Amino acid sequence: MTASDGPVDLAALAADAEATLRAAASTAELAEAESAVLGRRSALAGANRSLGGLEPEQRRVVGKSLQELRDRIEALVEELRRGLAATERAALLEADRLDLTEVVVGSISSPIVRGHRHVVTTTRDALEDVFVSMGFSVAEGPEAETDWYNFEALNIPPAHPARGMYDSFYLDLGEPETIVLRTHTSPVQIRLMERAIAQGSIPIHSVMPGRCFRRDTADASHLPVFHQIEGLVIDRGITFADLAGTIETFTTSYFGASVHSRLRPSYFPFTEPSAEYDITCTICLGAGCRTCSNTGWLELGGCGMVDPAVFDAVGIDGSEWSGFAFGFGIDRCAQMRHEIADMRALVDNDLRFLRQF
Ligand code: PHE
Repeated sequence: MTASDGPVDLAALAADAEATLRAAASTAELAEAESAVLGRRSALAGANRSLGGLEPEQRRVVGKSLQELRDRIEALVEELRRGLAATERAALLEADRLDLTEVVVGSISSPIVRGHRHVVTTTRDALEDVFVSMGFSVAEGPEAETDWYNFEALNIPPAHPARGMYDSFYLDLGEPETIVLRTHTSPVQIRLMERAIAQGSIPIHSVMPGRCFRRDTADASHLPVFHQIEGLVIDRGITFADLAGTIETFTTSYFGASVHSRLRPSYFPFTEPSAEYDITCTICLGAGCRTCSNTGWLELGGCGMVDPAVFDAVGIDGSEWSGFAFGFGIDRCAQMRHEIADMRALVDNDLRFLRQF
């Protein structure tokens, strides 16, 4: 059919419609083009309306042509819609894509910072290294202990006034035995001695680091959750001189040649005699300052010769074996070695503080 077939130029109408539809760049634009080309105000609708003025025979022919044209246009719309929808879906998927293999690199404004071990962990490792170099092995024990290991076997019976020193966290696990979060690492001594007897492996030269718990309010030099390292030597002919020598060797090895140890008479239920273990103040190196209350010394822990009552509790023959034990705070070591004014900084998790160590 050509323009000369009637009053409607179908070829021009078809070309216009196709050009309008193909110009649409998205499904939304296509929908607009579709109503412009097929809608009530379109040229096609106008042509349909003009059929009424034609002769019946011509009306039939032109009407049929118009219907065929409409069908072709509708088919073209459908084809274009499918193509545009596929393109849009692909773009959306690409935008939403989660690339699990993507390598994240830092920028100058937000660099990726590699973390490192906490200063308490590095302190614990350094302490272990010194003791291992002195011939000690490293052992560990549970953090939740029975009353027997934490108190009773260490010569601290239920009514003993020394229990007042340990305001403890008790766990109610429905067990017949009393369970306590260990208040010190000394219960690991008992476990080591029991195991050594069972295995016939005395002598013992061990250190036992670990987490401890006391119902202390946190302040500049106390944390309710803290760390200790315990030492235990059981052998033949061990004397207080061995204890003092071990403590001094450790002190100079760990803190440096200008820091020394001092033992002050004290009392612990599980050692006899007992001593408080002080080191040269690391701030003033003994001259006297605020940190050491002008004494030149800082208290680090306790020590003493293993009490005969402890040997009895575990079944070690005190006439054959003797030994010493010591225990001190790892957090406090970190504090003294790095001159940390307030111990609470260790658990604040402020990266500006932690990054310094
Ligand atoms: N367990 C004691 C405390 O926590 C320290 C200590 C350990 C004392 C070993 C003597 C011997 O205070």
